[in-house]
Amino acid sequence: MKLSIQNLTHTYDTDVCKQIQFELEGYNSIAIIGASGSGKSTLLRLLSGLEKPTQGTLSVNGYAVDDDSYRKKIGFVFQQHNLFPHLTLERNISLILEKTRGVDPAEAKRIALESLALVQLSDQTYKLPKNVSGGQAQRASIARAFALNPELIFLDEPTSSLDPVLTYEVLSAVKELKKLGKSFVFVTHVMSFVKEFADYVVFMDQGKIIEHGLPSILTTPQSKELQFFISHIM
Ligand SMILES: Nc1ncnc2c1ncn2[C@@H]1O[C@H](COP(=O)(O)OP(=O)(O)OP(=O)(O)O)[C@@H](O)[C@H]1O
Ligand SMILES: [Mg+2]
Repeated sequence: MKLSIQNLTHTYDTDVCKQIQFELEGYNSIAIIGASGSGKSTLLRLLSGLEKPTQGTLSVNGYAVDDDSYRKKIGFVFQQHNLFPHLTLERNISLILEKTRGVDPAEAKRIALESLALVQLSDQTYKLPKNVSGGQAQRASIARAFALNPELIFLDEPTSSLDPVLTYEVLSAVKELKKLGKSFVFVTHVMSFVKEFADYVVFMDQGKIIEHGLPSILTTPQSKELQFFISHIM
């Protein structure tokens, strides 16, 4: 994947992304880490085009992130699943395929079943979200993102509401999708997952990218900010 962030500043009450300049090419599983409030989710929303930057430009794989055709190339999985509560897991996926991609109902159902099978949910296909576990609902969200056949999936702390066993289940599902050639940009606090799954790590502190590099930066951090972060969360 190719990321290009030019002169990016994003402001709410104060600047939460500050003059970020960043170029990266050749990595397919990028982790964004950093303390709470450092701007990780904001950067992820900006990269996915969900929000427009106050200043600056972002492009991903050669697409400007506000380009309409970019939207069809990406999927997004949020911290809390956002499945429709009144639809079964299968319908949550097939309906989106029908409505946003014009896929015919039989084919939409086939893709939904296939995506649910990939994340080990074949036995939960016709349940409502409220009748499955948090980890299963989150896996269904991942299956839904995957079903739209994106090039790239953004994940914002997909396991933060889950216990360690469910976290393991969800992260295993993500690994399966990586084997199928999808790219990921993800925010997580699970450092074991970063070490195992990321091929590149971006560390943010107070709205800036302070340090970035191969996952080995976690064992040999150069900046005092990353040293502090690692010594306090591990
Ligand atoms: N919609 C918003 N309106 C106003 N301020 C916001 C908004 N979204 C985020 N912020 C502020 O921007 C800063 C960065 O928030 P962000 O959600 O990007 O942090 P984060 O690194 O994802 O934190 P966490 O690890 O807790 O999820 C925080 O100070 C937050 O309060
Ligand atoms: Mg966040």
